[in-house]
Amino acid sequence: MNSGLKKFYEMSWAERVETLARECRLSEEDKKLLSSLKPLNFETADRMGENVVGVFGLPFSIATNFKVNGKDCLVPMATEESSVVAAASHGAKLARKTGGFKAECPEQNMLGLVVLEGIKDKERAIKAITEEKSMLLKKASSVDEVLEKFGGGALYLETEWRGEFLEVRLAVNVLDAMGANAVNSMCEAIAPELEKLSGGRVLMSIISNYAVKRIARARAKWLKEDLGEETINAIIKANEYAAKSIYRAPTHNKGIMNGMAALAIATGNDFRAISAGAHAFAARRGKYMPLTKYSKDAEGNLVGEIELPMQAGIVGGSTKVNPMAKLALKILGVKSARELCEVFAALGLAQNFAALRAIVKEGIQKGHMKLHAENIAVQAGAKGTQIKEIAKAMVEKGKVNEAEARKLLASMGN
Ligand code: MEV
Repeated sequence: MNSGLKKFYEMSWAERVETLARECRLSEEDKKLLSSLKPLNFETADRMGENVVGVFGLPFSIATNFKVNGKDCLVPMATEESSVVAAASHGAKLARKTGGFKAECPEQNMLGLVVLEGIKDKERAIKAITEEKSMLLKKASSVDEVLEKFGGGALYLETEWRGEFLEVRLAVNVLDAMGANAVNSMCEAIAPELEKLSGGRVLMSIISNYAVKRIARARAKWLKEDLGEETINAIIKANEYAAKSIYRAPTHNKGIMNGMAALAIATGNDFRAISAGAHAFAARRGKYMPLTKYSKDAEGNLVGEIELPMQAGIVGGSTKVNPMAKLALKILGVKSARELCEVFAALGLAQNFAALRAIVKEGIQKGHMKLHAENIAVQAGAKGTQIKEIAKAMVEKGKVNEAEARKLLASMGN
């Protein structure tokens, strides 16, 4: 499969679907699902949520040009924000020239918390829990036989006092799942035992989205001849500045999340968990920092790196229930959560690189404006070919607003 699709954005809808089907070996059924624009039937939607009255639509797009660990992949993204997919594809296109992204996410371990309170004898509680660790781990693992059968399950327990609260952290190898259900069930299963052993009361048993035992990293190189020295220096400075300003750093990281959340939504993963974990990790040293780093290599090329917790799976949750999520995973062609997490990291880095390149160079509005102007034209009542005409005229005039769109529409006789 080749992700370096030429002019994918210029193709008609049908051509894009055919191209995608050819590259990703999609079935007639898959193509029908894409072309129906009916991503979910009511029965499925009603099983996924409560009080369901409809299905909410988002553009389902494909980021091109990605090569991750030597393997080409087309990245499905569900997002309402214009320019995000084009930016990711562009970042990946330039990185492709140097071999694409090298990424890793070696461990798929999630943490769960059982929080105890009202413990009178702290020392005795820790001793009792420590002595029964293997029983507790066995009990936790027995909750999810499938996970255990395939080599996953509870790995270890650690304890830490948080004032009067005793935090018991259970580490679980969740294999190909995001893991929230398994971890929550395991924590709830050992909670009564922990109560007995500690002499305290359970305040809560719940997964931690601070997924620091599931860290993903990606790295890529962008050529000096493509970016120019000035832009490379400016990107490095933009990153340094983000490390110095709390007003900048969250926006810097939000750009990373633009890509990762879109992939999470497309694949039926929990984008709230991914965002929460990423932002907490950004603040792990007591100061909120950018999640990426940039430097120059000996030849003056730009080297970008990203490191963050990843919590995504290819089984469980809505990954297999939501037909579009199932299709997204098929398009992506990943065979494990590990591979999926690696793509997430690569996408986050590509997205951040593209955003920084744009804001230090031509400004973000240039790329945003064309699609934004089309939306404004539609809001003002433009139809068919009028949409592009009015958008073009507004961008050329440098006046992109609804009043201007209405004026242009009126001048066309509407
Ligand atoms: C917009 O959605 C994201 C950016 O603001 C990210 C950034 O500033 O780095 C462009």
